[in-house]
Amino acid sequence: MHFVFQPGTSPALLLLHGTGGNENDLVPLGKLIRPGAALLSPRGEVDENGQLRFFRRLAPGVFDEVDLVKRTHQLADFVEDQAERHHLRRIIAVGYSNGANIAASMLLLRPGVLSGAILLRAMVPLDPPHPPDLAGLPVLIIAGRHDEMMSADQPQRLAALLLNAGAEVTLAWHDTGHSLGPADFKKAAGWMEENFPAQR
Ligand code: MLT
Repeated sequence: MHFVFQPGTSPALLLLHGTGGNENDLVPLGKLIRPGAALLSPRGEVDENGQLRFFRRLAPGVFDEVDLVKRTHQLADFVEDQAERHHLRRIIAVGYSNGANIAASMLLLRPGVLSGAILLRAMVPLDPPHPPDLAGLPVLIIAGRHDEMMSADQPQRLAALLLNAGAEVTLAWHDTGHSLGPADFKKAAGWMEENFPAQR
């Protein structure tokens, strides 16, 4: 697996790019959210007509669930391995679009790997076979009111799924579409400081 790793402070940020992106895309965002944090940023391994993603889909918004489950476990194993290698005690996922969807899938299928998550333009990736235990785990979902990639109930349903599992979910709606902007960066950095205050 191709990835970027930059050593730094704890918690580390696991950066997961959107469809058509790569491991370098979210590095600037990671540096904005928590300057100096350790960054782990893998590249999605599914090639969709030249666009890289983290799992296969059958159509926009329709996921290949078998592939999603398999790749969620592969990503979780990779993260656990890197965490051990670099002594990363806590890892917060920062995912955008397809990257947010696999981060949400990891929360649902492999609770315990992540200590928190920032999900930008996320959908419900799957219905977990049994509810995970995410007691007290902080999760920020930032949704776009005019997101053309998903129906408006998706962020709400994802929030409900995570809340039912015990997570401390903040669902923020921004007056925007699927792409990211300064309001997302500001909200994500503020949430990070509230939930994981930087050591000074
Ligand atoms: C997905 O496939 O994960 C979603 O449709 C978002 C996207 O990557 O476009």
